Amino acid sequence: MKKLVLGTITAAMIATAGLAADYTMKVSHVVSASTPKGKAADFFEKRVEELTGGKIDVQVFPNSQLYGDGEEMKALVMNNVQLIMPSLSKFTSVAPQMQLFDLPFIFRDKTHLYNVMDGEVGAVLKSKVDEKRQMIALDYWDAGFKHLSSSTKALVKPEDAAGMKFRIQSSKVLEAQFKSVGGNPQVLPFSEVYSALQQGVVDGTENPLSNFYTKKFHEVQSSLTLSQHGYLGYLVVMNEQFWNKLPKDLQANVAQAMKEATKLEREESMKEDALMMESLTKYAKDTNKLQIIELNDAQKQEWKKAMSVIYPQFYDVIGEDLIKKAIDTK
Ligand code: LMR
Repeated sequence: MKKLVLGTITAAMIATAGLAADYTMKVSHVVSASTPKGKAADFFEKRVEELTGGKIDVQVFPNSQLYGDGEEMKALVMNNVQLIMPSLSKFTSVAPQMQLFDLPFIFRDKTHLYNVMDGEVGAVLKSKVDEKRQMIALDYWDAGFKHLSSSTKALVKPEDAAGMKFRIQSSKVLEAQFKSVGGNPQVLPFSEVYSALQQGVVDGTENPLSNFYTKKFHEVQSSLTLSQHGYLGYLVVMNEQFWNKLPKDLQANVAQAMKEATKLEREESMKEDALMMESLTKYAKDTNKLQIIELNDAQKQEWKKAMSVIYPQFYDVIGEDLIKKAIDTK
């Protein structure tokens, strides 16, 4: 404990004295600092600085402040930013197999999901990212199951999505998913979603509750369907050159901080859904501007049936075996 306090003081003193750290690690992400990912990134900053006694200065830039979607991956490869944690969908161009996580209704629940992520399938997918030798895949972080939302027709049955424009992340699976129910998917960076919904550039979208609420999408959507049809998670990746340059002891500190940050991130995410649901229910009640739709099992099955037809389209890209392995994971 004493050691920890001393460590904190040393790091703080170095920071106030303005002494340059040996290394600067820029961390960029696109969501709010109050999401599980945002909180874990801030925690990681604090822990790395404590553990290294300020030898690594970590600087976190949330809300697409430094780089938005599309830019952050390029910036990481160029070592302009050293650590990012994009959603798994955003790895499509780096490792298309990662789109396995986008397949609608593939995960039964969080236990199944974690067993896939932390088991053989997750390891195979991480190795596809490592193979590129531009970045090192560290840990999977969690945002939660996605839900559909709309500013036009309330989405109760798959047919309701026909003709609607949906914002998606850059993933072919997500594109096929919305096409399977007659929707028109459109790729947009996360930073543009609010205004696109507000201006009717798109009618609807899909998000875990924390992203939906912290980015105030409820203000520009009239209904939220608790569909849990898909999943959104992250892969934390570091620039390989930066990692290799770190002395072994600092690498160990960074690995330790990351281990702790991952634990915190997942715990926060587990708590988040209930909290966000409370806030959204209150908003809906107070304003009468948001309809929250719960689907019964039969209705969920209809969405599942309509969307699952896309699986065979991705057998070649993702690997039929890998998809089967994920489904068969206990
Ligand atoms: C999105 O673009 O919807 C998400 O990937 C944003 C995020 O990082 O959670």
